[in-house]
Amino acid sequence: MYSRIIGTGSYLPKKTVTNKDLEKFVDTNDEWIVSRSGIKQRHFAADDELTSDLAEKASKEAIKQAGLNNDEIDLIIVATTTPDMVFPSTACIVQSKLNIPSCPAFDVQAVCSGFVYALNIGDLFIKSGQAKNVLIVGAETYSNILNWNDRTTCVLFGDGAGAVILSSSQKPGILKTSVHADGALHQHLCVPGWVKGGEVVGSPMVQMDGGIVFKFAVKVFEETALELLSATEKTIEDLDWFIPHQANIRIMESTAKKLKLPLEKLVSTVHHHGNTSAASIPLALDEAVKDGRIKEGELMLFAGVGGGFTWGGALVEF
Ligand code: UT7
Repeated sequence: MYSRIIGTGSYLPKKTVTNKDLEKFVDTNDEWIVSRSGIKQRHFAADDELTSDLAEKASKEAIKQAGLNNDEIDLIIVATTTPDMVFPSTACIVQSKLNIPSCPAFDVQAVCSGFVYALNIGDLFIKSGQAKNVLIVGAETYSNILNWNDRTTCVLFGDGAGAVILSSSQKPGILKTSVHADGALHQHLCVPGWVKGGEVVGSPMVQMDGGIVFKFAVKVFEETALELLSATEKTIEDLDWFIPHQANIRIMESTAKKLKLPLEKLVSTVHHHGNTSAASIPLALDEAVKDGRIKEGELMLFAGVGGGFTWGGALVEF
């Protein structure tokens, strides 16, 4: 029994914010942002648009593409760091918006690795016979947690959602997943705030030691790739596509170089939506599926890294 991706979908909010737009209220410039990160623009949700709204739109597309009815979904996992509310989970709110009848629904909080964590869990549910059609969504509204006085972080992130339908199959799909964390590094990338007695204590904004995260990301992307390839007795040459977390083009290209992977096999979408955390891998996947790059039977490597630190990946036959 395998689990396979049988549908993909994505949604980016209508409002785009270019680097030039940011120059008007942040001490930054287009040249710096493009040369250090590859980002040219990002999308921001409207004031009344919640993470669940973005997730709902991406999910509808993925369910349609999979040729399923909403009532055939029997597990919903939403990977997000920017939930609609403290509780219930955004997954339950998405379930309600999509009118999906009673089925398990929960969020995964693994920051930018959230999608690969969710894929790992969905795969296990299917392989253990507990679910047949799993809706997995990465959805974020980072614009709500950016500190506009911290130019080292606020120019990097954006909002969006990507979704996949994972379904049970006799044909190989997900060949191997891996998930890791090292909580000793949690202070290097965090939103160190919480709610206490009706007030926010600490800071509700993103803080990041960019340089530390950068070096760590390149290291674990390479390790994750080698771990998954070795476990499945595949080689770099067998890979058709590398779809890493879209944080920074320099991280992605450095990893490709270390792995000796041709850049044509790298799917990169960070230039037009910035770092969308848990949404970035399914957003990139959906774009490359829609534009015809990724074809059935091709071998894809996903790799995620983020706050925690968390990291992991998946080797997947499409
Ligand atoms: O999703 C989780 C994963 N997150 C990531 O993967 C992000 C990882 N880190 C990065 O992508 C990079 O470290 C950054 C893009 C955040 C920064 O790139 P960098 O090449 O490491 O730059 P830096 O932090 O060393 O900053 C260099 C200079 C500094 O000026 P001085 O001290 O050299 O004069 C900064 O003050 O760039 C300055 N700077 C800026 N200038 C214009 C920092 N931010 C900006 C800005 N605009 N927005």
